[in-house]
This record gives sequence, C-alpha cells and structure tokens, in this order.
Amino acid sequence: MSLLQYALWFRDNAIDRVQRVLLGILKAGPIPHHVAFIMDGNRRYARDKGVQVIQGHTDGFVALRRILGICSALDIKVVSVYAFSIDNFKRPQDEVDGLMNLAEKSLLELCSYGGVLAEHGVRLNTLGRTQLFPPAVQEALAKAKELTKNNNRAVLNMCMPYSSRDEITTAVEETVHDALVEGRIEPITEKDIEDRLLTAKVKTAPLDILIRTSGVKRLSDYLLWQCTENTQIHFIDTYWPDIGLFDLLPIILDYQRKVWSQ
Ligand code: FPP
Ligand code: MG
Repeated sequence: MSLLQYALWFRDNAIDRVQRVLLGILKAGPIPHHVAFIMDGNRRYARDKGVQVIQGHTDGFVALRRILGICSALDIKVVSVYAFSIDNFKRPQDEVDGLMNLAEKSLLELCSYGGVLAEHGVRLNTLGRTQLFPPAVQEALAKAKELTKNNNRAVLNMCMPYSSRDEITTAVEETVHDALVEGRIEPITEKDIEDRLLTAKVKTAPLDILIRTSGVKRLSDYLLWQCTENTQIHFIDTYWPDIGLFDLLPIILDYQRKVWSQ
C-alpha cells in the first residue's frame, strides 16, 4: 500500500468510526417513525460538476442507497421518497428514458441479495401510477417488490409516478364510488378519504419529518395530505446526490429536542 493509499484508507476509516459513534449517540434519543424526502437538485449537481444530467440522477441513486443505510442504522421504520412525479413525464425524452433505464436496473440491484434493502430487511412499496411506466420498468418493479415482500424490519415507499392531487382525487373518487355501491346516506368523512390514500393502503405510519434538498422551498404536490401539524418540514441547501449523515444530524437532533420539550 502506498503512503497516499494508506492516508485515504485511514481517512475513510476515521470518518466511518465517527459516523458510527454519532449514529450510536443519536439512537439513544427518540427516533422518528416516518421520514420522507423530496430528492431535489440532481441536475444542478450535474451542471456544477460539468457532467451529463443522467450522471446527476445516477449519483442521486447512490445517495438514496446511502440514506437508506443511515436510516436503517437509526432504526427509522418508514422512509418515503419522491422518485418520479407525474409531471416528470414532461421532461426532455432523453432524460425520461435515462431515468426509466436507471429505475429498471437500479431498483432490482437495490432489492437483490447483497443490496441495501436485503441487508437491512426493508420491504419495497411503490406508491403511484406505475401503469404509466414502460412495461420493462413495471416488470422490474414487480420483481423487486417480490424480492423484498417478506422483509419486515422497515419499509421504503418509492413514490412514482406520484402527485398528491392525483392521490387525493383518486381517494375521493373511490369514497364516492363505495358510498354509491353501498347505498350509504351518511356524509363522507375525513377518515373515509384518509383510509383510501395510497399511504393508508400500505399502512404507513404518520409522517414525522419531510426533508427537501437543494434549497428549493416548495412541497411540489408531495404528501400534502400526510403533512399534518405534527410534521416537521426541513428545507436544506445540499443537492440530493451530496446528502449524508451530516445533513440528517441537525434534523434528528431538532426532532429529539421537540419531542423532549413536549
Ligand atoms: C430531482 O432533481 C430528481 C428527480 C426528478 C429524480 C430522482 C431520482 C433519483 C434520486 C434516482 C433514483 C430514482 C429512480 C427512479 C431510479 P432534479 O432533476 O429536479 O434536479 P434540479 O432540481 O437540479 O433541476
Ligand atoms: Mg428539481
């Protein structure tokens, strides 16, 4: 091993140890059940680095794997991610095709033996209109879900192609349809609609924390119903592909401070 290789190994080892110590300290306090991410900034990250847009999305996938590892180490039971909005189909065709190829390859890799979901016992759910995806992506998703269906330590909700307006409209339509079929005359309640949301269908815990990366302060039609008065919303400047433990640390500490001060 050359001196430079040794120095790099030593540095990575030291960072790894520091991260493990920090995770251990964080885990001693209250941990959120459900954390959601709006993964934003892949293209700006690519532009800043002078690489192709698809490289930004590919590095975004690596960041997703990294974040899932950190969330598992913290014992967070549900992670939801905005992986593809219904509106994203309006992007340039080569970008959409690139994202579809990435989804087809990478989701199977994520779920296969040795992948981060298998390693941490995470079950994959998809929330959204997956029937809009090309058949090859639908097949890959079905296989990926099958591979993780017996995992029971935690859950990953990949929201794609998703929008809250679509989710809520569909839930209202189903509620009205069911009421007509049952000949029900009582008024429709909030619970009727909530029970028909995509998150209810996969029995997801209430949303504790929503994080959007890249400095943009918008919800972009993501989990609008699920953001309640108890959800803490954080907008952070880091581009999604660069996200890591040091971005999550202050957010989890803030959550713990709020829980302790209740
Ligand atoms: C938002 O950044 C990101 C996306 C639209 C795609 C997110 C996809 C991944 C993180 C890869 C893993 C997911 C799949 C489906 C395999 P942006 O493109 O809006 O970037 P910008 O805000 O800088 O323009
Ligand atoms: Mg964006």
